[in-house]
Amino acid sequence: MHPLIDGRTADSPLIRAYRGDRPSTTPVWFMRQAGRSLPEYRALRVGTKMLDACLDPELSSEITLQPVRRHGVDAGIFFSDIVVPLRLAGVDVDIVPGRGPVLGAPLRTAADVATLRPLEPDALAPITEGVARTVAELGNTPLIGFAGAPFTLAAYLVEGGPSKDHLRARTLMHADPATWDALLSWAADVTGAFLRAQVLAGASAVQLFDSWVGSLSVADYESRVAPFSRQAIAHVSDLGVPVVHFGVGTGELLRSMHAIGVDVMGVDDRLPLDTASARLGSAVPLQGNINPALLAAPWPVLEAHVLDVIERGRAASAHVLNLGHGVPPETDPDVLTRIVRLAHAPAAVHA
Ligand code: CP3
Repeated sequence: MHPLIDGRTADSPLIRAYRGDRPSTTPVWFMRQAGRSLPEYRALRVGTKMLDACLDPELSSEITLQPVRRHGVDAGIFFSDIVVPLRLAGVDVDIVPGRGPVLGAPLRTAADVATLRPLEPDALAPITEGVARTVAELGNTPLIGFAGAPFTLAAYLVEGGPSKDHLRARTLMHADPATWDALLSWAADVTGAFLRAQVLAGASAVQLFDSWVGSLSVADYESRVAPFSRQAIAHVSDLGVPVVHFGVGTGELLRSMHAIGVDVMGVDDRLPLDTASARLGSAVPLQGNINPALLAAPWPVLEAHVLDVIERGRAASAHVLNLGHGVPPETDPDVLTRIVRLAHAPAAVHA
């Protein structure tokens, strides 16, 4: 049975906070906690390519569990990548070490987009199995499933790889709206199916990463992007799991990103949580937003910053402590463990 229904995770601090409650300790997890900051991860990955690791259920499950064991965080996040469902739908994409997702050929024209095929449900078997194995080990600790939002996926598909300002994608949405809509609609259904598979296999919450959406104006976001993000999360709306929505540099977009129908907003480190809460209304639970740059600062500096984040988070109805973006690879893992201890100490709650 699903862990939210059989009682394993329904009363966990993470799920309570995502539903707007204040558990006795502040729940905490870290975006990109499963990965290169951990020596045990690097050891397991030797000789295995990133996407092959994602599609090996034994490996994806073990890598997901590593940071949960080591840090005592309040959630696991499934080890995968936003481009995994694209690969499973037949797109020629690879993850190049130190660079990120790279396409065999970019998708820029109506003819390119017409070659895209839907994701066959059977292709998701390695994901379903990886999640099921992980959830069986996690007990009362919830697993968060995730997916990339259509715009962030399109930022890779149209550019053909990582880009600084996603200019070609931002051109296409205006230059050829019909092709743009077809591409984003395809991406919404592929990424939505990836989310749904993770929830059905036992994930207790999901996070939609629209990492690069901060490059858009509110008008472009609302008219050219938001309908497709809504289409993506519609794939899980009947399943009753909390949905978190996150992007980088989204101070001006927070309200529009919440309005697609999500439960929790992730906030990056550019905007203090009390300001974010004033923009969204205090009823919206927030997640964030430790500045990743401070992970390498002396502990007293980082400690004061974490306590300030927790204090500002009190402006919202509920708060899940996290970073403002992912864990940098060079982070000392002991620093992450120390942040978890601080968040779980009674003093941090009553500060
Ligand atoms: O702990 C976790 O967060 C779980 C796993 C996870 C990965 N990617 C593994 C990964 C998650 C949630 C992601 C999401 C992801 N992937 C996003 C959204 C989150 C964000 O950071 O904004 C994006 C934009 C991607 C695309 C991507 N994948 C990039 C840009 C890169 C290169 C940068 C990097 O960190 O190396 C990747 C590769 C990637 N994804 C790695 C890992 C562990 C590194 C690959 C390796 O170890 O060789």
